Amino acid sequence: MRLRDKVAIVTGGGSGIGKAIAELFAAAGAKLVVASRNLQALEQTAREIRSSGGAALAVQADLTVEEQVRHLVHRCVDDFGGVDILVNNSAAMIPDEVEVADMTLDHWNKVLGVNLTGTMLCCREALQVMMPKRTGSIVNVSSIAGVIGNPKRSPYSASKWAVNGLTETLAIEAGPHNIRVNSLSPAATRTERFEAAVRARAERFGTSFEDLMAKILSHYSMRRLAEPMEVARAALFLASDESSAITGQNLIVSCGFHMLNPTEIR
Ligand SMILES: NC(=O)c1ccc[n+]([C@@H]2O[C@H](COP(=O)([O-])OP(=O)(O)OC[C@H]3O[C@@H](n4cnc5c(N)ncnc54)[C@H](OP(=O)(O)O)[C@@H]3O)[C@@H](O)[C@H]2O)c1
Repeated sequence: MRLRDKVAIVTGGGSGIGKAIAELFAAAGAKLVVASRNLQALEQTAREIRSSGGAALAVQADLTVEEQVRHLVHRCVDDFGGVDILVNNSAAMIPDEVEVADMTLDHWNKVLGVNLTGTMLCCREALQVMMPKRTGSIVNVSSIAGVIGNPKRSPYSASKWAVNGLTETLAIEAGPHNIRVNSLSPAATRTERFEAAVRARAERFGTSFEDLMAKILSHYSMRRLAEPMEVARAALFLASDESSAITGQNLIVSCGFHMLNPTEIR
C-alpha cells in the first residue's frame, strides 16, 4: 500500500475532487482527516472510508479563520499522531462572473481568503508538525486557471497563479527539511458542481447542455473531461514516495485542454 502508516489531511474532502482524493488515499492505507465548513458532508466521507475498513476523522474548519486551521492540525496530531501529507484542495467556487472593472473588494477578498490565505495557513500549521520530524509532502490543488488567464474570474485565476508561486517558494523553504511541495492543475473535471455550472450556463445562453458540452470538449485534445478519481490519482503520485525526487512542480491534469486555444469557451 502506497500510503501505509501515513496520516493525511485533505481539505474540501466532503465533495468533488477532495472526496475522491480522500477515498483513494484511504484505500492506499492512509489515515484521513477531512476538513471544511460542511460537517455533514465530511462525516459522510469519513463514514464511507470507515465502512471500507479505513480510518477517518471529520473536522469542521473554515480555512479563512486562523484559529480553526490551528485546531484542525492539532486534532489530526491528537487523534492520529502527526501529519505526513497535506492536500490543500478547498477553494471558494463562487459562480459569479465579473470583470475587474466591476470587481467588489468583498468578492475579491472572499476568493483570495480561501484559495490563497487558507492554503498558506494550512501549510504553516502542517509544516510546524512536519519539520521536526523531517518528513512530509504537501500537494496544492491549483487549476488550469493558474496557468492561463480566466476572464471574469480574475480572483479565482489570480489565487491559483499565487498558489503555484507559493508552491515553488515553499518547495525551496521546506526542501532542506526533507519536505516536498507540489501542485496539480486540473482543467474542467466531471464533478457535480461543474456539470451544474454548465447546465446553468447553457440555460443562460439558450442552448442545450449537450451542445455546450460538445463545444467545451472540442477544446480538449482527448475530447473528454477528467474524472475526479483521475485527478486523485495524480494527487496520490505527488503525495507518495513514487515522486520522492519531485518538488516545486505543477502537474497539469487537463485531458489536453492546455495545449489547444481555449479563448472561444470563455
Ligand atoms: N472541478 C473542476 O472542474 C476543477 C477544475 C480546476 C480546479 N479545480 C480545483 O479542485 C479543487 C476542488 O474543487 P471541486 O471541483 O471538487 O469543487 P467543490 O466540490 O466545490 O470543492 C470545493 C471545496 O472547498 C471547500 N471550501 C470552500 N470554502 C471553504 C472554506 N472557507 N473553508 C474550508 N473549506 C472550504 C468546500 O467545502 P465546504 O463548503 O464544506 O466548506 C468544498 O468541499 C479546488 O481547489 C478547485 O479550484 C476544480
